[in-house]
Amino acid sequence: MPMTPGPGILAAFEAAKGFMPVDEGLALYAAAAEAGRLGLPLLEIGTYCGRSTILLADAARAAGVTALTVDHHRGSEEQQPGWDYHDPETVDPELGVMDTLPAFRRTLHRAGLEDHVVALVGRSPRVAALWAAPLALVFVDGGHTDEHATADYEGWAPHLAEGGLLVIHDVFPDPVDEFTGQAPYRVYLRALASGAFTEVSATGSLRVLRRTGPGV
Ligand SMILES: C[S@@+](CC[C@H](N)C(=O)[O-])C[C@H]1O[C@@H](n2cnc3c(N)ncnc32)[C@H](O)[C@@H]1O
Repeated sequence: MPMTPGPGILAAFEAAKGFMPVDEGLALYAAAAEAGRLGLPLLEIGTYCGRSTILLADAARAAGVTALTVDHHRGSEEQQPGWDYHDPETVDPELGVMDTLPAFRRTLHRAGLEDHVVALVGRSPRVAALWAAPLALVFVDGGHTDEHATADYEGWAPHLAEGGLLVIHDVFPDPVDEFTGQAPYRVYLRALASGAFTEVSATGSLRVLRRTGPGV
């Protein structure tokens, strides 16, 4: 299975709205391609407009598994009107609140990947509370407060199979570099301290850890 996306997928990723730079996207793709060998679903927390989902979906397609992506589609704190990461195009003109689901669906359709993705629309902890199946990859890129990042880790990491990969985005060890808070960094430290995970790679702010023991 190729560990890099084809040119069409990379172009779709680059064209999609979102925040992930290409080097981190390539690292995410390689992790997804590797994890896909376990024959279990790949799960993302934080769909937004589908930029990173494209990569998980293509890796899932190649591995013959499904990509799952969780989001309430109402945006994180820093994406709300008046904040640095707000995009007015993501606001539903009728309701006046953010709704990234239409943009996400357009992104996936254009990339030809709809058949390989199941979108779970809701609050991550509520979906996680209903979840029981093992996962090959958990990609944490949802809310960046301690409350949300911790709930994502506690809700989803327990479902990660032995040998599966925990991928955490926006890990900034130095507070000077961070722009949305250091909660993902604290989750990363907690995962390592648990003894259940071993670091595999670091690319930009993306960290890939492998489950090498039980627990979280
Ligand atoms: C940083 S964006 C995800 C970016 C996306 N992975 C990409 O690469 O383009 C974070 C997303 O998490 C979602 N989110 C934040 N808190 C959430 C929660 N508690 N449950 C579900 N989704 C949440 C927001 O709606 C937002 O779309």
